Amino acid sequence: ADVTERTLAIVGELKGLEGPLLPILHEIQDEFGYVPQECLPVIARELNLSRAEVYGVVTFYHDFREHPAGRHVLKLCRAEACQSMGGDRLAERAKALLGIDFHETTPDGAVTLEPVYCLGLCSCSPSAMLDGEVHARLDEAEIEALVAEARR
Ligand code: FES
Repeated sequence: ADVTERTLAIVGELKGLEGPLLPILHEIQDEFGYVPQECLPVIARELNLSRAEVYGVVTFYHDFREHPAGRHVLKLCRAEACQSMGGDRLAERAKALLGIDFHETTPDGAVTLEPVYCLGLCSCSPSAMLDGEVHARLDEAEIEALVAEARR
């Protein structure tokens, strides 16, 4: 469907909520897989906000994507428990293997790498999520296997 039309419908549905901006942005991301630029002026106008305010919220929350994701999404936990269990090293390894940084997608469109802030698996850290499936107690070999799986 046309982005502007769908955005208007979503805003119309959720506008009455208290603090409607986040639910609207989540719904838009669910619908399109990311938050398209052209939604921002529509949301701003409908909620009486400035475009900068809406854009600021999109960039502040790590949940929102500004570009379509690749075919697979690999999320690495970057919160404290995972960091203390070697999460940094795993993140560096994944970035090196994929040749991209967080919030980027490999040029072939296969994998998007994203940070996530706690998957609720702190006791089995470090953890990650590939296409919605969680993986815990990761070591370097397992990160390599996950990256290989994501690339297929
Ligand atoms: Fe990584 Fe909680 S800090 S799962």
